[in-house]
Amino acid sequence: MSLLVLGIESSCDETGVALVRADDDGAVPHLLAHALHTQAAMHADYGGVVPELASRDHIRRVLPLTNQVLAQAGKALPAIDVVAYTRGPGLAGALLVGAGVACALGAALGRPVLGVHHLEGHLLSPFLSADPPQFPFVALLVSGGHTQLMRVDGVGRYALLGETIDDAAGEAFDKSAKLLGLGYPGGPALARLAEFGDPAAYKLPRPLLHSGNLDFSFAGLKTAVLTQARRFEGQPCEQTRADLAASTQAAIVEVLVKKSLKALEATGLKRLVVAGGVGANQRLREQLDGACAQRQVRVHYPELHLCTDNGAMIALAAAMRLQSGVARPRTDYAFDVRPRWPLDQLAEA
Ligand code: KG4
Ligand code: ZN
Repeated sequence: MSLLVLGIESSCDETGVALVRADDDGAVPHLLAHALHTQAAMHADYGGVVPELASRDHIRRVLPLTNQVLAQAGKALPAIDVVAYTRGPGLAGALLVGAGVACALGAALGRPVLGVHHLEGHLLSPFLSADPPQFPFVALLVSGGHTQLMRVDGVGRYALLGETIDDAAGEAFDKSAKLLGLGYPGGPALARLAEFGDPAAYKLPRPLLHSGNLDFSFAGLKTAVLTQARRFEGQPCEQTRADLAASTQAAIVEVLVKKSLKALEATGLKRLVVAGGVGANQRLREQLDGACAQRQVRVHYPELHLCTDNGAMIALAAAMRLQSGVARPRTDYAFDVRPRWPLDQLAEA
């Protein structure tokens, strides 16, 4: 018997829909089709995500994307067994769109729904890659809102090892990019500019690098970038901007790499999984690959196009939770959402 799971992601500024098939032989669920609409261009004028606009756009996109995914997979709505959606964390209004549509579809089809934790989606997304990991592993979760190191022993078995005490790594990229006059979203733009710069040009702080624990702090870095950026305000020189971008990226990447290595040492594990939008960063991938190869550690990443938010990871996480028996699909269609939802409170939800 196989299970067809529709996944809907609408926690921030991407509407993602996907269909996966989970077979009961325990194999990693298979991605049949997925579709994505990014609102980046719509929010660019405002320099960041405008929650009300995000919600309205999710409403416009979600059903057409669902039809697109079903057509791609050659399936009709009644073939869906479970409708999964992102329950949190994220923007409340945006989450409610996905939850509302999922519950409406579930109720109309007479199928259960399953609310998924967005970060669990990111965490499990490398299972859709050509080189899927095996449990247990250390996970470095680096997104726009979160920076966490976790020990992962199985589906739903996540122990927090360390996390940021202020800004997330993605936020550090985005805020520094803004100071450099780059558009939204800043991470990829800063990474592009950094290619032409000297990573050693500016000595920027590596906060908590030697703190002895696995926590991160990026707020001080943003202040240091601001101080440097002010120096060349009014006389923008491309090379100076590129040097500052490269130095900023180098500081963020060095902290992420060193803390990941410490987490591997502390747990004794030989496998690292990197997930979340910042996991798309090429410099981070190069540095992690090099450091881990020296230590006989295997590193797994999501496919590049599945690093940032998407529906595939939500459908996958739901399917893996169902397969492993840790999920309780609902038929009360209460479409509750949890805009703030720490991953270590998953079990109590
Ligand atoms: O996982 P994600 O799509 O959304 C959240 O769940 O937050 O991550 C988005 C974050 C943004 O901060 C974005 O600037 C960053 O990931 N990002 C990158 C790159 N691609 C996306 N940061 C650095 N380099 C990249 N190539
Ligand atoms: Zn995300």
